[in-house]
Amino acid sequence: MYLSKEDERILNGEVGHAAQKSMQILVALGDLFGADKLIPIKSVQVAGVSYHNLGDAGLDFLAELAKDGRVLVPTFLNPAGMDLVDWKKLKIPEDFAKKQQLVIDAFSKMGINTTCTCTPYLIGIEPKFGDHVAWAESSAVTYCNSVIGARTNREGGPSALAAAFVGKTPNYGLHLDDKRVPDVLVKVDAKLKNLSDWGTLGYAIGKRAPNKIPLIEGIAGKPPQDYLKTFCASVVTYGAQPLFHIKGVTPEAEQYDDPKEKITIGEAELKEAYDFLNDKDNSIDFVALGCPHASLDEIKEVAKLLKGKKIAPGIEMWVSCARPIKERAENLGYVNAIEEAGAVVAADTCMAVAPLKGRFKSVATTSAKGCFYCSGHNMMKTHIGPIEKCVKAAIDGKWS
Ligand code: F3S
Repeated sequence: MYLSKEDERILNGEVGHAAQKSMQILVALGDLFGADKLIPIKSVQVAGVSYHNLGDAGLDFLAELAKDGRVLVPTFLNPAGMDLVDWKKLKIPEDFAKKQQLVIDAFSKMGINTTCTCTPYLIGIEPKFGDHVAWAESSAVTYCNSVIGARTNREGGPSALAAAFVGKTPNYGLHLDDKRVPDVLVKVDAKLKNLSDWGTLGYAIGKRAPNKIPLIEGIAGKPPQDYLKTFCASVVTYGAQPLFHIKGVTPEAEQYDDPKEKITIGEAELKEAYDFLNDKDNSIDFVALGCPHASLDEIKEVAKLLKGKKIAPGIEMWVSCARPIKERAENLGYVNAIEEAGAVVAADTCMAVAPLKGRFKSVATTSAKGCFYCSGHNMMKTHIGPIEKCVKAAIDGKWS
């Protein structure tokens, strides 16, 4: 891979230890994937923020990097293991909270914006069409590539941080025109009425198009942003590349010919997805909304449905979101309505990265990606449905 004089100086350690380590990582990645050079990036999203996933070894690694590592481009974080302010409301143990705060302090010392979210595009961190960035969380990466038409590979924790310290990323994969060409045509022949329909559509396509870029047709009208964000989360979680194109909807879709390989997703395929994700046992003890992190509209809907109601005894309900969204929801009275019902608006965190293993047996959610992580990481039974159905389950104390 070609390195400029400045890149060479960084690699030789003339700019500091963290930058040198970072350049070593980027050069190794670039050589591995056949990149021709490093390209400048506009922003970075760092994953691997939850102390639950990092442990003490990860915390020590970050503290070491923070000694002289400073980011060169706007950088923000994926969700952490707790609400950084209201962690007690989420029943997070105090020792965990202390360690999580040390992780955030290390990132802050590096010059990182410590907003922890997987929906940066809802709070003003939105690249432009064609921008190169280095983002890490899979739903955000997929949204960035597909809906915005900016360009990013799905970075790992270390490679994203390395890109932030150098301000560049190796030029390979989804940064290149010829790697963004769809390889399977997906005809959607089903009515998509709500968030969970879009989540199950992502499941159905991801399972049938492993490691492929779908070109999707048959979507009527322009889907709301909330539907697209949940689709982004599930299609990549269940196997597709972090890029898709939808005819008439996403910015690059019209420039491609139809791929030869074709699949159809109809009502039967969506039902199969619902059957797989919905456990037959209807008992629940957790309702988790906001995966990907909730928009203000979603929180408004939850507040409306919960107003004057109470969550059933024995149920916990979280609505996860970015902190700036929680602040706006507080000002509009939505947080109060939700919390008076006994639920919590959990900023900075989510069901997948909070330390929940063993705490709940069975979750209700709108999110197919949420089902994947709740069952896989946290051993919960799962139930998926639209917002109204999840809120009803929280009030009734059971899925129906
Ligand atoms: Fe975001 Fe957590 Fe879901 S990172 S996409 S809310 S699993």
